Amino acid sequence: MIEHGLRSIEPLISRRHAAGDSLFLVLDHNTRLLCLPKLLEAIPWLLEVPVLEVPAGEQAKRLDTAQLLWNGLASADRHSLILNLGGGTVSDLGGFVAASLLRGIDYINIPTTLLAMVDASIGGKVAVNLDNLKNRIGFFHNPLAVCLDPVFLATLPELQYKAGLAEALKTFLLDPENQELGDKWLESFNKLTIDELILRSATYKQKLVEQDPYDRGERQQLNLGHTFGHAIESLALSKGEEMPHGIAVAMGILPAMRLSQKFFGLSESVADHYRLWLTQQEISLPHYSDEERRRLLEYIHSDKKNCHNQVRCTLLAGIGKAQISVPVEDEQIIAALG
Ligand SMILES: NC(=O)c1ccc[n+]([C@@H]2O[C@H](COP(=O)([O-])OP(=O)(O)OC[C@H]3O[C@@H](n4cnc5c(N)ncnc54)[C@H](O)[C@@H]3O)[C@@H](O)[C@H]2O)c1
Ligand SMILES: [Zn+2]
Repeated sequence: MIEHGLRSIEPLISRRHAAGDSLFLVLDHNTRLLCLPKLLEAIPWLLEVPVLEVPAGEQAKRLDTAQLLWNGLASADRHSLILNLGGGTVSDLGGFVAASLLRGIDYINIPTTLLAMVDASIGGKVAVNLDNLKNRIGFFHNPLAVCLDPVFLATLPELQYKAGLAEALKTFLLDPENQELGDKWLESFNKLTIDELILRSATYKQKLVEQDPYDRGERQQLNLGHTFGHAIESLALSKGEEMPHGIAVAMGILPAMRLSQKFFGLSESVADHYRLWLTQQEISLPHYSDEERRRLLEYIHSDKKNCHNQVRCTLLAGIGKAQISVPVEDEQIIAALG
């Protein structure tokens, strides 16, 4: 269930509270400072709810942080409800804890980053990382509701905003409704207001999730750029560099487009416009050393989307024409990395 505006989830939360169900807020350091006041302004009585704070950023998506939350939820029972207030890190981690505690309790996502609004908060994929391997340990456990409110975006750092735009652009590239735009697709994307962008991305993702809740078919469209993107993110993580997930995906779409041109004749102009968008966003085009390409390939081989050690990618035959689970050979991966 997708709700719009913070006040829209009040009735649902109030009902649970009135029924005696215990509520818990999970957030990170930044969302406690910058987003909690906005939530309390909309729903003041949430001030009584116990707050569990995790460190900000990808490093928090680990089993030991999950353990801190499990401990913090010692008084929870099967009727308890977790409210995740934060970006994809908080919703992935808080959702993971909700999925595992007492074999699954309810949670609501209140996304505060653009990336979480357009993507991460929807669909019930929850996970933590195992060392540098992204989302290695996880579940499918859908949130009871997702509450979208752009009010939080005012404080979001620019790089995080761009990361969210990248995931929204990915969804725009996949949506068959945009098939007819031809060379005007980038112009149309750039004209969307933030409200339209959130609504369109969230709606298209939700549609795919409903069609394919366990990610066995059509939902895999959403992996466009992710086979490469997760590897790029893992490589950065291993070097201790901060690389927002959406930026890694933005970079991962480039090699996916090169493969799409080779395999499905994706037009040069789509790839050109995509590079233009990266330039407009001042996202630098990556150049990998031989050693980095080798390590990226290693990470790609540990990707969950592979089948019997055969790398599988989501590619594009055109705007709104996703091709899922395309087998790709190692030499083709190395070549696509540029
Ligand atoms: N489950 C899914 O389907 C799915 C989909 C896409 C991404 N993800 C996951 O989401 C994670 C990335 O999420 P993210 O990009 O939202 O990152 P994030 O949650 O780490 O947030 C990025 C940074 O912004 C801060 N922040 C959050 N909201 C803010 C606000 N309103 N104002 C100022 N600062 C704010 C956070 O504290 C953090 O420092 C990755 O781990 C990725 O794997 C999951
Ligand atoms: Zn993503």
